[in-house]
Amino acid sequence: MKQTILWMLTTILILSGLATLTSCSNDDNGIVEPARQVLQDGEWTGTGEGRSGSIVVKVVVKNHQVEQVTVVSQSESVFAQETINKLVAKALGRTDVMSVEVDGISGATLTSTGVIDAINAALLAAEGKRADAEKIYHDGTCDIVVVGAGGAGLSAAVAASEADDGLKIVVLEKQGILGGNTNYSTGGINAAETDIQKGLGIEDTKQLFYDDTMRGGKYENIPSLVRNLVDNGPATISWLTGLGADLTDVGLMGGSSVKRTHRPQGGTAIGPHLMKVLKTACQKENVEIRTSNKVTGLLTSVDGRVTGVSVQNANGSSYKLTARAVIIATGGFGANLAMVAKLQPSLSGFATLNHPGATGDAFDWVTAIGGATIQMANIQIHPTAEATNHILITEAVRGNGAILVNHDGQRFCNEMDTRDVVSAAILAQSQGEALLVFDQTVRKSLASIETYANQHLLSEGSTLEELAGRLGIPAAQFAQAVSRYNAWQKAGRDDDFGRSATGMPIALETAPFYAVRVKPAIHHTMGGLSVNTETQVLRADGTPIDGLFAAGEVTGGLHGANRLGGNGVADIVVNGRLAGLAASKRLK
Ligand code: FUM
Repeated sequence: MKQTILWMLTTILILSGLATLTSCSNDDNGIVEPARQVLQDGEWTGTGEGRSGSIVVKVVVKNHQVEQVTVVSQSESVFAQETINKLVAKALGRTDVMSVEVDGISGATLTSTGVIDAINAALLAAEGKRADAEKIYHDGTCDIVVVGAGGAGLSAAVAASEADDGLKIVVLEKQGILGGNTNYSTGGINAAETDIQKGLGIEDTKQLFYDDTMRGGKYENIPSLVRNLVDNGPATISWLTGLGADLTDVGLMGGSSVKRTHRPQGGTAIGPHLMKVLKTACQKENVEIRTSNKVTGLLTSVDGRVTGVSVQNANGSSYKLTARAVIIATGGFGANLAMVAKLQPSLSGFATLNHPGATGDAFDWVTAIGGATIQMANIQIHPTAEATNHILITEAVRGNGAILVNHDGQRFCNEMDTRDVVSAAILAQSQGEALLVFDQTVRKSLASIETYANQHLLSEGSTLEELAGRLGIPAAQFAQAVSRYNAWQKAGRDDDFGRSATGMPIALETAPFYAVRVKPAIHHTMGGLSVNTETQVLRADGTPIDGLFAAGEVTGGLHGANRLGGNGVADIVVNGRLAGLAASKRLK
């Protein structure tokens, strides 16, 4: 018996070995390349996308193993260097590619993935293979093209495929990685009257959500779009949890009357979690995703229907992908600082929190075929970007109890007011910046803060006075300001700045105390393509362009003059899903 099992195992091993030896990589040219199983000696270059852009590495292979890795170029923050060094060390001596799951460094997901992708691209070249992002495509056809692989695009692709699993759906992403700004998104997703809120005893109504959103947007929002967002909230949360999302922690964000920002347990950042869930769903639905494939324009028929897209491969060659519907989910233009400054000169010189691909390319293609844009000058700055590295410090830190003080150690605003108000208040302080201050209880309440700690963004003191010394602010005034805030918190009202009792969950009394230096930075572009509640892209006269849909930050009008925290993720998932459903319905 034992011998039979041994024989069977040996046979399986030999067969699988043969299969490996004869396995081929088949690129879309139809060229079948035999896969070599060992790294070829030589110097190989690879590129990946990190948090702040491309990471290029050179890998030297000697005796079929990695002898040296040199980072040729990268623009990650100084704090990312530690991650890069660790990954380079892990690569030395390898004879095969790395794994993001096994080798990745937690707390630095984007940099980590970018470095591993870059090293792997070089190692694949050494094996005579091509990284996915370097595949070359030619003219082809499919049912639905989704442009952009962030939260909106992947939501659209998954929803369309679920509605009709016979559809061939292709997602095109110009960056080398998926996720766009969703990768950076932290706070959570807003929805009212959800089962999760009810389970936590949170009383909320869709009408209150609608009213908060309209008031926050200074009533410049298009009411039908807001109503659509609010009405589809609970179904969207159920859809996400059905796909495996954990949204069981519900927190408070600025401008919201109650806790309605759904996020993973412990207050972990929503964006990376959402991307993981949506990527898995895309795999399950057999959605094809092509990275490093940049759309350059829309194809139309003589009667004005959108019939596909023109695309540029990673090597610069072009192809056409025809489709019966196109969904634009390319995000905003918050990384296009020239465009921001032109549309909103007051924001000239501001740093950005956006990923490098948020350049607003889609507006050219859509306006070229008659699509309209609205409220393009409505651009949001986020009050709490870490002042040196421009890393988003989520509003949820304030929602969980943090305060803001200036360089005189004084509070100066209701920290839970809307972003436009808080940003303006910070810009009015000396150096146009502030210190976000919290205690150990707040730190323990929100997992995102551990990421900031890992990025070395926190100043720490075992007493308020010690923290003040580290920050270079007057200790006595600072301690007095915190103690005065604590007294208001206990009284359940803030006569100084009007922060609500709900917005002051705890007194800041538990050492150690922490601070982050913050300064407003460009966050969200609220204007964009004109759309209706069916996510169809509209012309200036209000008529829809046949075959063209859009969702997420590329669209305009939902948020009005100021977006509420948590409404960005709500927008991308609610409207991404609706766009997928609308496109698949059109094909029927
Ligand atoms: O502060 C934040 O976490 C941002 C969230 C958002 O823009 O929705």
